[in-house]
Formats: sequence, C-alpha cells, structure tokens
Amino acid sequence: MNKKFTVTSFLEAKNKNEKITMLTAYDYSTAKLIDEAGIESILVGDSLGMVVLGYESTLEVTVDDIIHHCRAVARGAKNALIVGDMPFLSYHINTEDTVRNAGRIIQEGKAQAVKLEGGVEVVDKIKAITKAQIPVMGHLGLTPQSINMFGGFKVQGKSEYQAKKIINDAVELEKAGVFAIVLEGIPAKLAQIITEKLTIPTIGIGAGNNCDGQVLVTNDMLGMFSDFTPKFVKKYTNLKDSIMNATKQYISEVKSTEFPSKEHTFSIDEDILKKLY
Ligand code: KIV
Repeated sequence: MNKKFTVTSFLEAKNKNEKITMLTAYDYSTAKLIDEAGIESILVGDSLGMVVLGYESTLEVTVDDIIHHCRAVARGAKNALIVGDMPFLSYHINTEDTVRNAGRIIQEGKAQAVKLEGGVEVVDKIKAITKAQIPVMGHLGLTPQSINMFGGFKVQGKSEYQAKKIINDAVELEKAGVFAIVLEGIPAKLAQIITEKLTIPTIGIGAGNNCDGQVLVTNDMLGMFSDFTPKFVKKYTNLKDSIMNATKQYISEVKSTEFPSKEHTFSIDEDILKKLY
C-alpha cells in the first residue's frame, strides 16, 4: 500500500533528491485511477475551466467550481496530496476574502493545500493564508490568470528583466512560507537557477527537467484534450483516438442491433413470460 503524501513529503523528496510527481484531476474516477497508479500529488487546477468546462481561459472559474471538483477528487484519491487552485479574483480583493476562500477549498473541498499565482504582489495574501494553517503552493512564470497582461500564452523569463523578476519572486514566495512553487513556461536554465537557490521544491511544467518535480494537465498527457497542445506536453497515450473509435463502434453496433447481445441482456423465466402476453 502506498503512503499518504503530505506537504512535508515534498521537502523530504527535495532533500533526498527524489523527483515529485503531480497531475491534475477534476473528477472521482480519474483521481482514483491516478492515485492507485501512485501519483504523489493531485492538483485540482483551474485548467478545469478549459479542459472540462470548455472556457477559452481559466478566468471564468469560480471558487464554487473548484470546491465542487475538489470534493469529487478527494473521494477518489486516498494517498496523493490534494492541492486546490485558487481561481482568478479569489485572492486579489482583500486578505479577509482570500483566507475565507482558501479555507472553503480546505473545509468544503477537502483539499490539503491551495495554490495561487503571482510573485511579490501576493506575498501578503500568502502570509495570511499560512497564518490560518493552510499550506500554500506558489505559481510563477506563464501564469494563465495573467494572460491579458502577457498578451497571450507566452513563455516568460526570456529577458534579463523578466528572469531576474521571476528569481526574486521565487525567493520572496519562499520567505512568505509557500511549501513549493510551480514554475510554468520558463526557460529550463532559469528554472534550474531557481531550483538551486530555493530550499523548497520547484514543480515544473514547461520548465525543463531540473525542477524538483513535474506536473502536467492529465487531459493533455492522456491525449484527450485536442483544442491545442503546448510544446511542453508529452502525450503518454492517445485517448482521443480510443474514445473516437469506441464511440463509432458503439454507434454502428446499436444501429445494426449487434449491441446489446445476449451477454449484456437479462432473461426472464419462459413460464412467466407467457403470462405477460
Ligand atoms: O490549473 C492548472 O492545471 C495549473 C497547472 C498547469 C500547473 O495551474
């Protein structure tokens, strides 16, 4: 039986030089499967908005959406650490709302930690959440909630100014008390510098393989989400083709009455049957 992964396991893994594995999930069945397969952490990401709810960005996702899906994931995952994403505007307005929203994701959503995007500008919110005994994961680089500021989904940290800002943000987040930082869509060498500078682990997505761990959106890595595929996604299987083929076969078998066959059909005693006509 696998051991429960906790926020302290993140630090232990970094100290032992063991890579940390993380995937997203939004529902009971997927969470159960990836948990049984041994994933160490599950992120109920606001990518939910794009890969499950069909929005064009993550900006429409609400705290209630995250809680709803966290609860389902928590019912399926027994060992993985569940991190609930704080959606756009749930930690931007004031500290009181921020702590309340983070608390709801823990209390109602049954997550064990929350994640939020941003650098020095969110340090006061991180301190307030950790003061409420809620572990916080940071998120720097190509932070999808800032796409309107970035002018789209663009790799960050390529200029000296941007790279130095991300390094400084990472150091400030660590000082504020985050237990790990997701580094998304930044050059691998920059991620390496940050990873070496910090005592807490970095979890990369499009940030090279020198981070302390990796995260991918499960629907991307299973080849289910085909609206677009970022360069950093590796498809470990092609569920899109499997689902398309299975659906086409189902349609054809229903039309031809091949399905349901005897194997999938319930019978009734012949004597009882006669009395029904
Ligand atoms: O929402 C999400 O899935 C994320 C990952 C891409 C890190 O934030």
